[in-house]
Amino acid sequence: MIHDVIIVGSGAAGLTAALGLAEKLKVLVLAKGTLTGGSTAHAQGGIAAVLDAGDTFEDHIRDTMVAGAGLNRQETVEFVIERAPHAIDRLIELGVPFNTAKNADGGENLHLTREGGHSHRRIVHVDDATGWAVQSALLKAAEDHPNITLLPGRSCIDLITGRHELRYSGSGRVWGVYALDEATGKVEAHTARATVLATGGAGRVYQFSTAPRGATGDGIAMAWRAGARVSNMEMMQFHPTCLYNLEVKNFLITEAVRGEGGHLINPRSGKRFMEFYDPERLELAPRDVVARAIDSEIKRFGLDYVHLDISHQPPEFVREHFPTIYEKLMGLGIDMTRQPIPVVPAQHYTCGGVLIDLTGRTDLPGLYAVGECTESGLHGANRLASNSLLECFVFGEAAAADILDQWDAFDAPPPVKAWDESRVTNSDEEVIIKQNWTEIRRFMWNYVGIVRTTKRLERAQHRIKLLNHEVEDYYGHFRVTTDLIELRNLLQSADLIVRSALHRHESRGLHYTLDYPETLPEARDTVLVP
Ligand code: FAD
Ligand code: SIN
Repeated sequence: MIHDVIIVGSGAAGLTAALGLAEKLKVLVLAKGTLTGGSTAHAQGGIAAVLDAGDTFEDHIRDTMVAGAGLNRQETVEFVIERAPHAIDRLIELGVPFNTAKNADGGENLHLTREGGHSHRRIVHVDDATGWAVQSALLKAAEDHPNITLLPGRSCIDLITGRHELRYSGSGRVWGVYALDEATGKVEAHTARATVLATGGAGRVYQFSTAPRGATGDGIAMAWRAGARVSNMEMMQFHPTCLYNLEVKNFLITEAVRGEGGHLINPRSGKRFMEFYDPERLELAPRDVVARAIDSEIKRFGLDYVHLDISHQPPEFVREHFPTIYEKLMGLGIDMTRQPIPVVPAQHYTCGGVLIDLTGRTDLPGLYAVGECTESGLHGANRLASNSLLECFVFGEAAAADILDQWDAFDAPPPVKAWDESRVTNSDEEVIIKQNWTEIRRFMWNYVGIVRTTKRLERAQHRIKLLNHEVEDYYGHFRVTTDLIELRNLLQSADLIVRSALHRHESRGLHYTLDYPETLPEARDTVLVP
């Protein structure tokens, strides 16, 4: 099937790009599983933007670069932050019901909450379920648009490039994707003049992650295999406060709980501990600092978790600000208005990814990438809270604008080879997939986590090499399934993370290694070239 533009991913980044393109072009949006299966729908805290009278772009830029430990590209940081108020206006136009509060004149302003690393209140939100409101509004607009076709249940396998053309050209030009129809098991070639990857992060490479099941780094792995550079993959962000519960494994407790006064407490001593790690910013230090502090308390005292306590605030205040979290915890027997919440750090966000410029262009002609699957220069060595949905909106629009601008220069796609299934059979050993998934996630957690050493990274690399033979052998002999596609991409992402971590001979932001505890004077990206 031929389209003007193909977008892989139906989260904030993909749908923003689709809506920007659809005024002039026919757009196909492909998504693995359901249309709401990405991280966007799970976002809690909100979206950062300078909207308060006392706040400035300069302050938001400075906070972003301080959190990012100087690895950010200033040009990108300015580009995104200056466009944030416009992005919020656009979401309001689409019907996102952001919370408001009465101002001194009796009128209403957007209610701004606060999160770690921000020097001002600047987070717009819809209660504590901002992502669901944003996802629903974008999806409704996309469903209503006659130029947008939404195809869920399609697991994209690989990019179609010059080497898949029927008349081999050998060019690195990208012409679309091969995608598995999850219902029929058939693989289809979808071609277009331009392709946009908006596939989200690779969080599921870790045993404990707040990210949804499908965050397996597919877009990053596909772009890498097709020949695009990836950057800063060692910068995996761990959120300090994921609920510790043996049944519910990946429920986030938003940073806004700390923003609205929540304290972190050592359950053994009953005392706040952030004063020992960051005496000035305490619980509102950037995420890397707070996650490392919790990790250190847990290891030093042999704890299973620490406590996050907001029970000193009035019960009505807590219920009103955090209705989703309150309900969820009540269902588990925890009343957060009266009791502390047991929390642990968990992987949360992929700061690295496919290298892009300010228009969302990758290294490969015809291929754009937007959102969490990219490394745009915004986050540097550690993402500032609530800057990531913002990045999706700004880069979704920027990529759409560039494609529209360049449209006349894009050739129509040539005929391409059909997916070849002549040498594969149905798998008779699904157990291998499950075993390998579990193994990768466990050694990544233990060897490539919050605190690293070269020896542990080398052990992880050794495991990856062994698994690579097994997975490639399996991939070469059996028909693809979504599980197999994800396993292959998970392993590819793990490899990119470990290689990047071994490249960086310093500790900076999220990459903290006992072998190189100092930060080098010059901040340099880790760029891997295929
Ligand atoms: P996603 O929303 O993850 O969407 C990815 C899309 O790609 C999905 O549609 C998926 O189906 C599709 N896809 C993936 N692989 C394939 C494939 N092979 N074939 C076809 N389709 C594929 N950020 C903030 O700024 N503020 C917050 O408050 C916030 N809270 C968060 C809370 C949680 C629990 C989590 C996990 C993240 C949070 N984040 C937050 C981060 C933010 O939600 C994400 O970075 C952002 O939503 C990513 O959007 P995206 O469009 O890039 O990808
Ligand atoms: C949160 O609500 O704590 C998550 C915010 C983010 O990831 O930016």
